[in-house]
Amino acid sequence: MKDLAMHIIDITRNSVRAGASLIGIRLDVYKTEKLLKMTIKDNGCGMDSEMILRVTDPFVTSRTTRKVGLGLPFLKMNAEQTGGALSIQSQPGEGTVVTATFDYSHIDCVPLGDIQGTVALIMSGNPNQDFEFEICKDESVFALKSTEIKDALDGISIANPSVAKMIAEMVDTNLLSDLQ
Ligand SMILES: Nc1ncnc2c1ncn2[C@@H]1O[C@H](COP(=O)(O)OP(=O)(O)O)[C@@H](O)[C@H]1O
Ligand SMILES: [Mg+2]
Repeated sequence: MKDLAMHIIDITRNSVRAGASLIGIRLDVYKTEKLLKMTIKDNGCGMDSEMILRVTDPFVTSRTTRKVGLGLPFLKMNAEQTGGALSIQSQPGEGTVVTATFDYSHIDCVPLGDIQGTVALIMSGNPNQDFEFEICKDESVFALKSTEIKDALDGISIANPSVAKMIAEMVDTNLLSDLQ
C-alpha cells in the first residue's frame, strides 16, 4: 500500500525527469475541514492540455524503459477514495503544479509514512535540483530550503550520506502529528 511519503517521492521524480531545477513540496492542513492538501510545483518542461487529460490514464507515460505510468493515476485514486481530488495545472515550457486533496478523517486515507526520511532522500538524492519543503497548519509554518542547507554545508555535498540523516532530523513534522 502506498503512503503519502511515497506519493511525494513519485511526483517529485516526475518533476526531476521533466528537467525542473526548482521543486516546491507543500503540505497544508485544514483542521476544520479535516483536509490535507499536497502541492508539488516545478519549473520543468510542463505538459500541454491534451497530455494533462491523458496522464491520469494508467497506460500513459513518456518514459521508454517501462511501459505504463502509474504515479499520477495512483495518486488520483488515493485522493478520490477519501472524497478528495487530483488537479494538474501545467503550461509547456513553464512548469507544472500537481495538487492532491485528502479527507484525512476518512477510513481509506493513506497514512503519512516517513515524511522526514522522504524529504532527506529527495534533497540529498538530487543534488543538482533545489527543493523547498513546507508544512502549513493554521498560523504555523515549517519551511526548509535545500539552497540554505547547501550554503550552510560550506562545500560538503548535500549528497553526502551523513547529510541525509541531518536533513531528516531537521524536518519538523509536529504540525502533522494529529493526522494519524
Ligand atoms: N511534473 C511533470 N512535468 C512534465 N510532465 C509530467 C510531469 N508529471 C508527469 N508528467 C508526464 O506524465 C507522465 C505520467 O506520469 P506518471 O503517472 O507519474 O507515470 P510515469 O512517471 O511512470 O511515466 C510522465 O511520463 C510524463 O510524461
Ligand atoms: Mg511518475
